[in-house]
Order: sequence, then structure tokens, then C-alpha cells
Amino acid sequence: MISVVILGAGNVAHHLYKAFSSSENVTVKQWYNRHIDAISSYKHDLNITDDISQLVEADVYIIAVSDDAIAKLSEKLPFENRFVVHTSGSVSAYDIDKKNRRGVFYPLQTFSKAADIDFSKVPVCLETLTRKDYMPLKTLATAITPITKRVNSDQRAALHLAAVFVNNFTNQLYRVAHEITESKGAEFDLLKPLILETATKVQEHSPFVSQTGPAKRNDKKTIKKHLKLLENEHHKELYKLLTASIQKTHGR
Ligand SMILES: NC(=O)c1ccc[n+]([C@@H]2O[C@H](COP(=O)([O-])OP(=O)(O)OC[C@H]3O[C@@H](n4cnc5c(N)ncnc54)[C@H](OP(=O)(O)O)[C@@H]3O)[C@@H](O)[C@H]2O)c1
Repeated sequence: MISVVILGAGNVAHHLYKAFSSSENVTVKQWYNRHIDAISSYKHDLNITDDISQLVEADVYIIAVSDDAIAKLSEKLPFENRFVVHTSGSVSAYDIDKKNRRGVFYPLQTFSKAADIDFSKVPVCLETLTRKDYMPLKTLATAITPITKRVNSDQRAALHLAAVFVNNFTNQLYRVAHEITESKGAEFDLLKPLILETATKVQEHSPFVSQTGPAKRNDKKTIKKHLKLLENEHHKELYKLLTASIQKTHGR
């Protein structure tokens, strides 16, 4: 049995609490947040606190607060030589105060408090500054997901950056598509099977092989027609930029 204390009460902390408390191999000994109201509804389930001086002993302390607050919160921890990790994709493990043993427990998924997540499908990227600390962190991760991966800082930074492309940028393109369909009274919902198929296909085939469309075919006539149809200058710029990117990749 491995024991943890969770610090923070945002999107990630809530999902971690849910996953850890459902595992037979993890005990959540305490949940800390600077504002107790965010976790007060859990007061009958576990020890909650907003007093950092009252943190109890545990195998692993998970700091799941905003990136900017990780270093400062770690400085305030009232103990030394314990194992402290954060959950960020972009913050260095060295940002955690060096009075404690340090690591990273980065769940590579998008989390919102309101949306349910099956944690057994979430990859967790692990990083520790010493070899000795890796096994306890892996044990903790495997208690909630079979998908764990040891990464170094450069790999984690690359994954975090790539995640912005596959998640945030793709979602922004959905938004553009939504504006385009709305402007002509067409139904965005009719695109949903295509959205799903695109995401499904890349599970089995590389993005290079999966690409289709006028840019890949270098179909100049259709590209010209699309650019004429686009009334919004910003959408036009995006179309040109992505068409050029696809053409460069496919040697057009
Ligand atoms: N959301 C995601 O999809 C996702 C995915 C992977 C990794 N992460 C990483 O996980 C971490 C948490 O992200 P999140 O989305 O859960 O954040 P969030 O929902 O915005 O919650 C932020 C938490 O940080 C606390 N906080 C902010 N400033 C603080 C300070 N100065 N001192 C103490 N606590 C402070 C907040 O406390 P209050 O409640 O008191 O305001 C809140 O509990 C970040 O490092 C993020 O990069 C996020």
C-alpha cells in the first residue's frame, strides 16, 4: 500500500483523488488546498486541510496546483527529504524546492472537473531525479493506469508541446469549422462521424499515411474554390497556412 497527500483542488487534483481513492493499493491520507471550500464536501471521506503546517506523513506528495504556484508551494512544505512530485507537463522537476526528493507525475490527458475520465486509459509520464525514487512513483501510477512511461525532461516538454497541437489546435479547428457551417446554415453535427473517424484512423496508421484532401492531392482548382468561399480573412489565412504545411510534408 502506498500513501499519498494531494495538494491543490483543481481539475487534475479532483480526478487524481477519484482514481486513487478507487484503488486498493493507494491510501489518500490527506487533501490540502489553500481554500478549504473547494474540498470541504470531502470532509467525511478523508482528512482535509488548508493549513500547510498540518500536513501528515506520506510516501508521495502530489502538487497539482497551477504551474506558477508549484515552486512557491513546494518551498512552504514543512518537511525535508520526503518525496514530492508535481503534475505539470512544462515545469521542471528542479522547480520543486530541493529540500525534498523530487519528481514529476504528468498525466497526459485533458482534465475538467465536470467531465468524467477513465484513468485506466490515461498515460502517466514519470520523471524522478534519482533512480531510487522511480519504483515508488511507478507503483503509484500503475495503481490507477496500466499506461506509464519513464520520460526525461526534454521528452516531457516535447509531449506537452505536441499535446497542444493534437488537442488545443485541433479543437480550435473544430471551432473554425463550426463558424463556417453556421455562417451557411449547415449542420456542424454532420461532421462528427468524420471527426471520430480521423481520430480513430490515427490509432492504427501514421498521420502521414492517414492524410487525404485537396492539399495532399495538390488539387489547385478545389483549393482556389475554397479560398473564394472563405469570407473570414482569419479563416483564409489558416487555410493557406495549413495547406502549405500539408503540401510541404507531402512534397507538393
Ligand atoms: N487540466 C489539465 O488538463 C492538465 C493536464 C495535465 C497536467 N495538468 C497540470 O496539472 C496542474 C494543475 O492543473 P489544473 O488544471 O488542475 O489546475 P486548476 O484547475 O486551474 O487548479 C489550480 C489549483 O491550484 C491552486 N493554486 C493556484 N495558485 C495557487 C497558489 N499560489 N498557492 C496554492 N495553490 C494555488 C488552486 O487553488 P484554489 O482552489 O485555492 O484557487 C487550485 O486548486 C498544473 O501543473 C497543470 O499544468 C493539467
